[in-house]
Amino acid sequence: MSRTIGILVGSLRTESYTRKIANAIVTLFPPSMQPQFIDIGQLPLYNADLETESPPAAWVAFREQIRAADAFLFATPEYNRSVPGVLKNALDVASRPSGHSGMTGKPAAVVSVSTGSIGAFGANHHLRQSLVYLDMPTMLQPEAYIGGVAKLLGPDGTLTQDSTREFLRKFVQTFDAWIERTIRR
Ligand code: FNR
Repeated sequence: MSRTIGILVGSLRTESYTRKIANAIVTLFPPSMQPQFIDIGQLPLYNADLETESPPAAWVAFREQIRAADAFLFATPEYNRSVPGVLKNALDVASRPSGHSGMTGKPAAVVSVSTGSIGAFGANHHLRQSLVYLDMPTMLQPEAYIGGVAKLLGPDGTLTQDSTREFLRKFVQTFDAWIERTIRR
């Protein structure tokens, strides 16, 4: 069965390494996984006062895209050992109104990306903490901490190392199986 995979990228930078890794991962998707990149950069900061009968149009459109996805891939850099505010804001917007989150129960996977050597471990696990609260079954293994990313991408944004490609292929295959195991029918 074909599944729509919502992809949220935690960097807004045009030349974002994280987005390039997400793009590389998508090229490894089997036909059963249909990627849908979901923009998070235009979302007004979460403010419960705006949660009226007519919330911001950007929130409404975003929540519709979230509801339309069957599963989620989160690709995140690390800011100050945690999740960039823009991605946390997207989770906050997606999770409300209370009891109406379009993410609840949907499978997820996390890939964290850094120019540094620790592979954004802190962001990866802070994000997982939120996904537990959001009741999203998140793939456990393989963990994906992509460190030293600048050396793993060529000028055109493609992967330079076969070992990275093979690791990401395994990551995608396992995520595909994880979705079929954990999706709520
Ligand atoms: C960073 N960076 C960073 N890297 C890291 O490994 N751990 C960290 O805690 C931080 N903290 C941090 C804070 C802020 C505000 C910025 C702007 C950057 C470096 C970061 O990994 C690097 O800039 C990446 O290139 C950002 O990802 P994108 O934008 O290339 O996807």
